[in-house]
Amino acid sequence: MAKLIYSAITSLDGYVADADGNFDWAAPDEEVHTFVNDLERPVGTYLYGRRLYEVMAYWETAHTLTDQPPFMRDFAQIWQAADKIVYSKTLETVSSARTRIERNFDAEAIRQLKAAAARDITVGGPDLAAQAIKAGLVDECHLFLAPIVVGSGNHSLPDNVRPTLELLDERRFGNGVIHLRYRTTTEGHADAAPASQVTQQGPRSV
Ligand SMILES: NC(=O)c1ccc[n+]([C@@H]2O[C@H](COP(=O)([O-])OP(=O)(O)OC[C@H]3O[C@@H](n4cnc5c(N)ncnc54)[C@H](OP(=O)(O)O)[C@@H]3O)[C@@H](O)[C@H]2O)c1
Repeated sequence: MAKLIYSAITSLDGYVADADGNFDWAAPDEEVHTFVNDLERPVGTYLYGRRLYEVMAYWETAHTLTDQPPFMRDFAQIWQAADKIVYSKTLETVSSARTRIERNFDAEAIRQLKAAAARDITVGGPDLAAQAIKAGLVDECHLFLAPIVVGSGNHSLPDNVRPTLELLDERRFGNGVIHLRYRTTTEGHADAAPASQVTQQGPRSV
């Protein structure tokens, strides 16, 4: 059975983008990018919210740009080789191969995809990932903490869920980024009860 992995580069205070939508500070350097490449190499399918897909579609043609360093060309190849499912009610066409659009997030369909897939699956950005976390579908969280505090913006993790986290691995990079890899275990999940009930009951699980 494949794992579903939520991976995000976040500020230390937990935002993937600041209040102006800026995430320049999250751009990985060569050391971090090379590590990301090796993490993503085994991934067979990316589940994308429409907003993150529009950023990541850059990689469909990145290899054609001049002066791309080898670690970026490597990532472009990894990205192009994977299947992509884009969740959107508004997107009419996609700009990459191996890509299809889903109009609704169907948790049971993702459960079946995990059961059938030979290779791991990732989910992002945070809006889509929140739905997967709340449905108890996410097996691992990979957080890259960038050494910056941005104060407000787009949260990397959802409100009103308290996954049980087990630290599996950590890594420190020369530019101050820390990678934290957690197993997220699920005894029940937030979709099973109203959010208010989950909050009152305290840390049950995802
Ligand atoms: N830190 C970094 O390294 C980094 C890198 C790239 C991007 N970013 C940032 O990451 C953020 C992207 O994440 P996000 O949380 O804003 O958005 P997201 O999860 O990538 O996409 C949200 C969109 O996905 C679609 N969607 C979500 N749930 C759906 C459902 N149940 N059914 C159908 N469609 C659904 C909707 O698209 P429609 O509106 O089309 O219906 C929704 O607007 C942005 O802030 C971006 O700036 C950060």
